[in-house]
Amino acid sequence: MAVSFLLAPMAELSHRALRELIEIFGNCDEYFTEMISAGALISGGPFEAWYLDPGPCPQRLVYQLVGANPEHLAQAVRLLNTQECAGIDLNMGCSAPAIVRAGAGVRWMASLDRAGALIKLLRKQTTRRLSVKLRIGMEDDFEYLVEFCKRLESEGVERITLHPRTAREKFKRRPRWEYVSRLRSAVHIPVAGNGDIADAQELVRRAAEGCDAIMVGRLAIRAPWIFAQARHLERPGAGNRPSLPESIDLEELGLRFLELLARYQPREFHPSRAHRFFAYFCDNFTWATYLKNRLNRETELSAMAACLSAYCRDHPEERTRRLTLSPGLA
Ligand SMILES: Cc1cc2nc3c(=O)[nH]c(=O)nc-3n(C[C@H](O)[C@H](O)[C@H](O)COP(=O)(O)O)c2cc1C
Repeated sequence: MAVSFLLAPMAELSHRALRELIEIFGNCDEYFTEMISAGALISGGPFEAWYLDPGPCPQRLVYQLVGANPEHLAQAVRLLNTQECAGIDLNMGCSAPAIVRAGAGVRWMASLDRAGALIKLLRKQTTRRLSVKLRIGMEDDFEYLVEFCKRLESEGVERITLHPRTAREKFKRRPRWEYVSRLRSAVHIPVAGNGDIADAQELVRRAAEGCDAIMVGRLAIRAPWIFAQARHLERPGAGNRPSLPESIDLEELGLRFLELLARYQPREFHPSRAHRFFAYFCDNFTWATYLKNRLNRETELSAMAACLSAYCRDHPEERTRRLTLSPGLA
């Protein structure tokens, strides 16, 4: 069976507008939402309906929760259990200082018993697939990671995504991908690997190395076509629904994202989410820093659209990206 491709949960990025953009090219098997605060969700914050928007494909959506309070998380899982989705994921990997200080994210990995008790509680709240996304842990201790994951498995976790860096490493140091296949051999549930996939060729190569799924984060913003391109490289001509074009019009794609953002996100979120998106998407252009700085000065989506179009008018040779569609070529 083909290794699944997953979109990573990314705060302010993994929302409906991005999912719609990736769906133009297809071939992403599951979309994780950005992390949703369990506390905010159960207290009915003003933006929760946007976080819960399951479009465009609820049956391939995984809601990710973050929190430190077991009772809040249990209530949030009960609420999500009523939504159509592919599963519910718990964030045990975020190493942002505020999250860790609160006892959430990767802080859960500091105690087997605390994490085990939480999963036991959450398992009782849902019939949905329950998964966990984590890092190696607070330290680089593979034996502890295996013990931790076995405990999660014994309490009812059905899939693990490993971003194989420690809490302290953030995005420094290369991810230890060898831990993904070693962990997979040690547990009986599927294991997804995640971290620093650089292009479609690497995605195909990692998929062949021994994991059940590959999760892609930042590259999917730079290249929303990446899943379709990788499937094409794996099996030219097969599995590409809708079909993969030979080249991408980057201006058209950037403008399409802005339209989708306007349609599917509340006005209050527009500037921050557009800036986050362009922080990665602009890497497609030679003068990326210049363009990001220009876009960051704008708060209206229409002004951002004008900015992108002006850049493409001034640098017409950068507007089109030809895709590598042959497995042999880098
Ligand atoms: C802007 C940003 C926001 C992120 N937000 C989340 C999040 O909400 N939940 C989570 O589990 N991981 C989050 N992550 C981590 C990613 O899911 C992923 O593990 C990490 O980016 C490594 O994958 P990549 O190299 O393919 O981007 C975030 C990463 C970035 C760059």
